[in-house]
Amino acid sequence: MKSRAHIKSHPIHPILVSFPIAFFIGTLVFDALALLQDNTALWQTGTYLNRAGIITAVLAAVAGVIDYIYTVPPKSTAKTRATKHALLNSTNLIIFVTVYILRQDVDTSRLLLVGLELIGIVLMSIAGWMGGTLVHRNQVGVDIRYAQAGKWKELYTSETSGKIEVADANELKIDQMKLLHVGDKRIVLGRTEDGHVAFDDRCTHRGASLAGGAMICGTVQCPWHGTQFNVKTGEVKCGPATEKIPTYAISESDGKVFLNL
Ligand code: FES
Repeated sequence: MKSRAHIKSHPIHPILVSFPIAFFIGTLVFDALALLQDNTALWQTGTYLNRAGIITAVLAAVAGVIDYIYTVPPKSTAKTRATKHALLNSTNLIIFVTVYILRQDVDTSRLLLVGLELIGIVLMSIAGWMGGTLVHRNQVGVDIRYAQAGKWKELYTSETSGKIEVADANELKIDQMKLLHVGDKRIVLGRTEDGHVAFDDRCTHRGASLAGGAMICGTVQCPWHGTQFNVKTGEVKCGPATEKIPTYAISESDGKVFLNL
């Protein structure tokens, strides 16, 4: 799914996280050297790196929270993973803020601070591993291009019932999809050779976003483990999912496509 916090389709969060990773590891390295060599200049450098790490971690977190809310599919294994990723990184940030406050007091044990930093780096590494899984396996932040180069499309609407206008009749190419945020529901509008269809965005296996999959010849394939669903009936054509997806009525008039809820 395309990231909401992006610059020309490049997600901002993975770019920004490089900075706190470098600064926090730098803090640990310089503080450990300062401890070993009893060197005040190295300790001072660690203080600067500690401060830079905190500032850049907060900036990276802002982009991460936007992706967490808007991009990671709700009620999915990716959401659970993203929650753990966020909690581990938040804990690491709290540790480095604590270290920064404590180091202002010259009487604080440097060994204690280096120990805390080491714990923080371990947590950050586990969180980074999960972040990699979110991108490379769960495809969070991937900008999907559909058949015939149709681009990713999304629509937010506060209407949740009745006849809701969701697209122009010729807006989508054949086999292109559009993710509709209808209140707190996520519904996919797709265009097949036989007209428009609408179905739930959530794969019934582990919750992947079907809008991030591929649709062809009336079948949508989940991007995570390949379940194929009939887009008209919602039935499973081949698993691992066993439960069908809900489908929704669509109508067209005056060159517009309407979702009927
Ligand atoms: S989440 Fe596993 S097949 Fe869709």
